[in-house]
Amino acid sequence: MINDIYPFGACFIADSALSMECDRGKIEECGEQELCGAVVLQEHIVKNGEVFSERKIPEQLMDIFAGGNYGLAFMDNSMAKEQRRFALRSLHDVGFGKATLERVVGNIIWNITFGITLEFENPELVKFRQIQQDTIPLLANPFMMFVEQFPFLRKVDFLIGSPTKKLAKLNENIVDYFREEIRTSEANFNPDNRPSCYVEAFLGEAKRRADAGEPIRNFHFTQMLNCASTLWAAGFNTTVSVLRMAIIELVNHPEVQRKMQKEIDYVIGERRIRNEDAKLLPYTCAVLQEVTQLLLAPQSFLSSRWFTTTEEFYRPDYFCPERHLNEHGIFVKDSRINPYSIGKRSCIGEQLARMESFVMTATFVQSCNFTPVSKVPPALEFTTGLSRTVEDFLVKIQPRN
Ligand code: HEM
Repeated sequence: MINDIYPFGACFIADSALSMECDRGKIEECGEQELCGAVVLQEHIVKNGEVFSERKIPEQLMDIFAGGNYGLAFMDNSMAKEQRRFALRSLHDVGFGKATLERVVGNIIWNITFGITLEFENPELVKFRQIQQDTIPLLANPFMMFVEQFPFLRKVDFLIGSPTKKLAKLNENIVDYFREEIRTSEANFNPDNRPSCYVEAFLGEAKRRADAGEPIRNFHFTQMLNCASTLWAAGFNTTVSVLRMAIIELVNHPEVQRKMQKEIDYVIGERRIRNEDAKLLPYTCAVLQEVTQLLLAPQSFLSSRWFTTTEEFYRPDYFCPERHLNEHGIFVKDSRINPYSIGKRSCIGEQLARMESFVMTATFVQSCNFTPVSKVPPALEFTTGLSRTVEDFLVKIQPRN
């Protein structure tokens, strides 16, 4: 059961989704484990998208993080429709999926959200990463599940080291920074120009509504602040997780790394790898698909509502990119392997995340060798938290040329 594995699992199951499952006689106990498998997912989540689009809101968590139900991940359905549509459109307009590799993961999201690029060594970026790393174990603390069920526990959490207050404090640092960035964007905002980032698109929409005498509805400052914060929170760790998983697998399977390098050297050479190169690199795509299969496990809060069960795969724990190639060596996309979920609340950042995972992994392998620091490579161990990720590990990285 998800509930046993991850403290938030139970909170995020939409009641309507579960009762519908029961009506159809599919699930007697309403166990979330049953709501998985590619066929069941297609039948329920896609065909009955409206029924399953509801997401139960973790009220306490949202109070700590956003002071209410704002942002892009936890909002009621009417707000979700409007805000999702707006986010998808404006992110697309500002170049989602076209970002170039020079900007590392955090920076791509930063750029798309605020329109600014941070230097790689920028202390702010380092600070942000640290705050996120400190936040995750607090979020994964089972106490948070109890707080959702029994909100009064927040008042006595000093008895166990004040996790909710610590979360609020860490979040304050992030929000203060976002607030400042938004203020700067506001000061420089020129409604006559085409928006260059999400915040400008948001400001433009708010202005358009005000000028037309339309109700502002959810296009206010607090929502903008929390959308920016959702984009960062939802987009950063998840993408980094994929890269970490790819690297640890390559360290454990040097023959796979060599095969990738051979393919990349032969097809691409030394030029910069682009997203369109995916169709030229079947083995590299197979490696990535095999890596993302690791993300399908339920220990992820984001994908905990429904997922493709790894039971559908023969020996899912056996790392074998070749299983994604046909007899002619052509890459076969497996629609069951979709860590971005499906349906009306699926990941907004899928396009960007797919591009980042491919371009970055391929470029890393093109330019570096990844080897263990000792004779025995690091074990593949997972942490539980906002998204499934591998435990920290040491790796030796050497440039190939
Ligand atoms: C490898 C990277 C990523 C993975 C595995 C991932 C996975 C997911 C999953 C499983 C969900 C929940 C879907 C559901 O409940 O049905 C989700 C939601 C979301 N993701 Fe991602 N994501 C990734 C990257 C990103 C990026 C780069 C962004 C934005 C820049 C992003 C923004 C969002 C947002 C805003 C939501 C909430 C959507 C809603 O509630 O309507 N994600 N993601």
